[in-house]
Amino acid sequence: MTGYPFSIIHARGERMENREDVNSILQFLPVVLRSSALFWPSQVVEALKALSKGPDHSKVDSGDVLFLAISDLRQSLSLSGDILAFSTADGFSLYFDDLISRAEANKWFGEILPALADTLLRLPLMLEAHYKSADSISCMGVRDGLGTGLRLLKSQEAGVVLLSQELIGALLACSLFCLFPDSTRGANHLQVINFDRLFACLYDNYSENQENKIKCIIHYFERICSSKPVGNVSFERKVLTDDYTLNYIPHPKAESWSKSVVPLCLFEVCSSGLIEDHSKEALEVDFANMYFGGGALGRGCVQEEIRFMINPELIVGMLFLPCMANNEAIEVVGAERFSQYTGYASSFRFCGDFVDNKDTDIMGRRKTRIVAIDALVNPGKRQYGHKFLLREVNKAFCGFSDTCKFHQYQMLFKDDCFSEVELDHDLKSLESSSDNVLGTSQSASSLDEVGIATGNWGCGAFGGDPELKAMIQWLAASQALRPFMVYYTFGLEALQTLDKVTKWISSHGWSVGDLWNMIVEYSSQRSNNETHVGFFNWLLPLLSSDDPMILDP
Ligand SMILES: *[C@@H]1O[C@H](CO)[C@@H](O)[C@H](O)[C@H]1NC(C)=O
Ligand SMILES: *[C@@H]1O[C@H](CO)[C@@H](O)[C@H](O)[C@H]1NC(C)=O
Ligand SMILES: *[C@@H]1O[C@H](CO)[C@@H](O)[C@H](O)[C@H]1NC(C)=O
Repeated sequence: MTGYPFSIIHARGERMENREDVNSILQFLPVVLRSSALFWPSQVVEALKALSKGPDHSKVDSGDVLFLAISDLRQSLSLSGDILAFSTADGFSLYFDDLISRAEANKWFGEILPALADTLLRLPLMLEAHYKSADSISCMGVRDGLGTGLRLLKSQEAGVVLLSQELIGALLACSLFCLFPDSTRGANHLQVINFDRLFACLYDNYSENQENKIKCIIHYFERICSSKPVGNVSFERKVLTDDYTLNYIPHPKAESWSKSVVPLCLFEVCSSGLIEDHSKEALEVDFANMYFGGGALGRGCVQEEIRFMINPELIVGMLFLPCMANNEAIEVVGAERFSQYTGYASSFRFCGDFVDNKDTDIMGRRKTRIVAIDALVNPGKRQYGHKFLLREVNKAFCGFSDTCKFHQYQMLFKDDCFSEVELDHDLKSLESSSDNVLGTSQSASSLDEVGIATGNWGCGAFGGDPELKAMIQWLAASQALRPFMVYYTFGLEALQTLDKVTKWISSHGWSVGDLWNMIVEYSSQRSNNETHVGFFNWLLPLLSSDDPMILDP
């Protein structure tokens, strides 16, 4: 009955092979399940043991030889049929043999690689321990019996996976060694998770930013090998539901937006600075691709990909989070930041170690909350259509919502219109009732202080209208009952008057419904060619003339 390394009969009396969570992810993992235990095939164990003893023993002391060792490991896992990116070998060789110094290479092959091999050897045990503890945690939005175990977090199934940082390190080491099976990922709407393309792109079309992306990843491995991280990271798929009888976040209709009397939240504009450096506790927005991580493991190097390089634990979500639908968002709590950087896109550069001093919560997660929401891609004129406005505001609402507050949201979206008195009463009763659930999103004490830190969502490569997107995010943050939204403009010209406009709107005491209806009116005129100016000018035509009358009511 005992397989390698040992077998766990679970507290619930369930064996590994009967677990729904294990079964959903097994085809995407390199380890195999036999006799109720997870393990590496014996040739892999031998090869990893040799690697763990260092280059004198394994002879792996260059990028060239490392790739050969990887190919052998893949063969032992019967992965030779999955094709790696064509220039992977050249990419490994270029990085480890040419681009880094001899001293760095010695450290990498002499210390880091052996430590990573050792971590990989322990992966089966780590996974078994993970599944054992995953049963003991219950949290919001999780189907009965599934807990927080590593599994495929499928589209339209809300749920949470909670991983230790140590396990994440081992899984990312599998990516580096290209050990994940790839053949069924595409059909399951999952991106490539091995690092082959990351290195192949370096060789195919060398760019300094690609080299610096890899530097961030290598720096991460150095850090976790020199000092084992001890925290946890949770990955949550949030799904808006059309079934208002479920205990989950409701999917707002256009009418709910138009009738909403929720007050607009505080809006703070920062014309310099970066979301990830925001010091107050906030949900930090990842301007995501519908495939979580976007081009992080390819050539991509804009906002989402940069975040994945400096907080590489995010990458592991790409293993088990298929493509997001319109009513979905992904929230990650606890990913540690390891690197400093400068620049953006082609000017992106790694510039040294970053010590992340964020506090941790009761589940051992750093209080860094990153929410991935994907905007419409190249929407052009379409973005002013009613259907698309609704798609965008609901997408942002899904991301900004707090799973613990589903009941509150349900009340806000009830068909009958709310009076402000009732709303006020409900907001107060929520404050007193919200601390009886162990939500994954927030611990109760900080629940009502966590705002949104965002910026030009969907306005760079995706080509959205920044004025419209800023307003849409404001609506969503307010309706999600967030106390504030901090907006980093990244110096965008189009948003020079953002501060004035939001101050004007706030001073007039508009509700979510008021602003929504104004945006709908503007968008309809814009769609029909009745106006060609931006929303800010349309709303406040005198704004650019610096008329103090209109700005200081
Ligand atoms: C190589 O990269 C440059 C700059 O990033 C780009 O302009 C060019 O099209 C790329 N070439 C190939 C073959 O991908
Ligand atoms: C991480 O989560 C596990 C449950 O999976 C828990 O036992 C452990 O204490 C947590 N770690 C920290 C540092 O709180
Ligand atoms: C608005 O103008 C564009 C280009 O000038 C045109 O293609 C489009 O059909 C017009 N739309 C309407 C609703 O008139």
